[in-house]
Amino acid sequence: MSNIVWQQHQVSRGERETQKQQQAVVLWFTGLSGAGKSTVAGALEQALLAQGAHTYLLDGDNVRHGLCADLGFSEADRTENLRRVGAVAGLMVDAGLIVLSAFISPLKSQRDAIRRAVPEGKFIEVYVATSLEECEKRDVKGLYQKARLGEIKNFTGISDPYEAPEHADIVLDTGLLSLDESVQQLLQLLRERGIIR
Ligand code: PPS
Repeated sequence: MSNIVWQQHQVSRGERETQKQQQAVVLWFTGLSGAGKSTVAGALEQALLAQGAHTYLLDGDNVRHGLCADLGFSEADRTENLRRVGAVAGLMVDAGLIVLSAFISPLKSQRDAIRRAVPEGKFIEVYVATSLEECEKRDVKGLYQKARLGEIKNFTGISDPYEAPEHADIVLDTGLLSLDESVQQLLQLLRERGIIR
């Protein structure tokens, strides 16, 4: 970037983390629409809050009402959506927060770009691996039905690709696990990684 120089500030991420008594991290929830990303991330955030953690939940549907309101669901628009969210998540990690991000993020290249946008070692990939069959059966928002009828184009899993992560840090199938089991598995992972006590 020409004529723009990175400014070093006096307060570091480490100092912010120390003050909050936690390690900052991004928990990146990826999976099909209706897989349970937002539900699990929301329940985990409540559990973390109860333990005194400082968190923020970034959610695809909500971000698309504001920061990314100009974007649709073409591959280029999804990539831009995720680039912006990755940059925001990186800033929130710098602020010392535990960030929970729930986005379909269908392509490996998009998720790899987010991993690069976040400080080294601060990206935890959570694959919400609920099957397409189960998501379509739930069809909470009625979008699968519209996609099958051709009323929604580029719908992930129906008329647009989803590349499943091959090396996720944790895999959760909400068709098999209760909400509490998913949350407990995530809390256990965060304890093992020394992010929370
Ligand atoms: S992406 O691919 O990561 O940029 O998508 P994301 O920002 O997470 O937005 C996904 C939510 O948008 C709704 N929606 C669609 N999803 C997939 N494909 C198409 N074409 C589409 N159109 C609208 C849908 O409600 C997604 O919400 P979730 O929470 O994933 O069910």
